[in-house]
Amino acid sequence: MIAGNAEAPRNQWYVAAYSSEVGRSPLQRWILGDPVVMFRTEAGSPVALFDRCPHRGLRLSAGSLQGDTIQCTYHGMRFAADGKCVLIPSGSPISERMCVRSYPIVEQWQWLWIWPGDPALADPALIPAIEPFGFGKEGWFHETSAMLPVASNYLLPFENLLDASHISFLHHGLIDSGDVASQPYRTEQEGNWLRVIREVPNEPISPLTMKTFGFETDRAHRTITADAHVPNLCGIRVDLAPADRPTETAMTNQLLVAITPATRNSCHEFTGVAQTFPFTNPNREEDVRNLLMEDVVAMEEIQRLIDQLGPERCDEVSVGCDASAMRMRRMVAQMLAAER
Ligand code: FES
Ligand SMILES: [Fe+2]
Repeated sequence: MIAGNAEAPRNQWYVAAYSSEVGRSPLQRWILGDPVVMFRTEAGSPVALFDRCPHRGLRLSAGSLQGDTIQCTYHGMRFAADGKCVLIPSGSPISERMCVRSYPIVEQWQWLWIWPGDPALADPALIPAIEPFGFGKEGWFHETSAMLPVASNYLLPFENLLDASHISFLHHGLIDSGDVASQPYRTEQEGNWLRVIREVPNEPISPLTMKTFGFETDRAHRTITADAHVPNLCGIRVDLAPADRPTETAMTNQLLVAITPATRNSCHEFTGVAQTFPFTNPNREEDVRNLLMEDVVAMEEIQRLIDQLGPERCDEVSVGCDASAMRMRRMVAQMLAAER
């Protein structure tokens, strides 16, 4: 499996939007190769429909909401939340075929999760639980953060987040001064969850870490834990304690990145941040964006070469730090095989 050309499992929940993005104006977003239009009913329930009018093919998101229906702007046909046509203004009888696909969509925390696969299998209990990461958990501070469009296959950012060895180089000076890459790490797997833990004792604190945690000291013990729910979510947890204090006193910052395939070579990143201490950095959303953009630039460069050379000329040679990414790819391959 070449990461730049990987299919995505469809029988999974993926974040489609922040709750705040979807309201009483239609919003279009590509999800796993489908154009999707999202809006809310008058009562506030989210709706997701295939974004192409079955009559002559204009996108429905160009239209307007009429009560709980969306009206195509070309000939005025109206479609309800279940995708069924409820009005043909020119008076023809409404055939069974005059309908669009309606996707299961569920709101949890401040994200809207969509199920692009078989609707009969869309069990909301399969949405990865984010409360244990501090999102909605008592005593934690949490909020949504930057959203990034990425012009690469979804597996590139996914394995980038799993592999902290890159931060010593790609983010050198910003969140690491070079100590992380050489540290040993361990990987744990439980069902669809993959955890990669790196402990970095007594290292100099880099500028963005200092800013996020508001530390006075310049050396700290840091533990970096990547928690990935394959194939749709990856969290990066940083536990930081001043070097002269025991690690049990660590403060925690948790970045969560939901990765949603848009097309074969593009995806969306939706983020959230949770901490065990109040937010003090006024530029925190911009800082998250700038940090992730260092990754995005690299992912997009890699994708461009894959598209230019063709996947058959893009072999990869893996090393020790790729073990968790390789495991993640095997998990995705198994999911795809199960769907076939
Ligand atoms: S194209 Fe939508 S109503 Fe004709
Ligand atoms: Fe990174």
